[in-house]
Amino acid sequence: MYPMTRASSSALIVAACLVATAGSLGPAQSQPAAQPQLSYDFFKSKVEPVFLTKREGHARCVMCHTVNNAPFHLVPLSPGATSWSEEQSKQNFELVQRVAAAGIMDSPLVKHPLAKAAGGDPHHGGGDQFTTQDDPAWQTLKAFVSGAK
Ligand code: HEC
Repeated sequence: MYPMTRASSSALIVAACLVATAGSLGPAQSQPAAQPQLSYDFFKSKVEPVFLTKREGHARCVMCHTVNNAPFHLVPLSPGATSWSEEQSKQNFELVQRVAAAGIMDSPLVKHPLAKAAGGDPHHGGGDQFTTQDDPAWQTLKAFVSGAK
């Protein structure tokens, strides 16, 4: 009688590549590339400073647009603060969309504070804050509306 030396070489079944393919169910089609969107980051880092900057012969945007009834409205600065908090900036970003729409280059934010001679609206209660389209601050507003990030 032979000892049963059953070489039980159990085949190790390698379940190869059970890698979750999570990515495959991602957005089926990404949005059409050309659809501009307003960027909060750009707004906070580049546009809000425009509202806070003093221009020769003019009051700062923030002086009027936190207190007047114009469609363009900003949150008042906290006492002693020289810029807006994150929370306030987010509110400003919502509020500014009353006068700025992505991809609409006629948005009031772009046209209204720009001098008529430079292609802006005929009258702004806050004056011709920008006398030329070459003004870097005006270009910042334009870039924002164009969807700059
Ligand atoms: C001296 C106060 C004053 C300052 C400073 C001022 N504004 Fe105004 N702004 C007004 C008044 C008043 C109105 C509403 C009457 C009008 O249409 O001009 C207005 C209206 C606007 C509107 C709304 C237009 C509409 O009808 O939709 C925009 C946008 C605007 N301002 C942008 C700005 C920007 C940007 C700045 C800074 C670069 C600025 N303003 C600075 C007084 C001011």
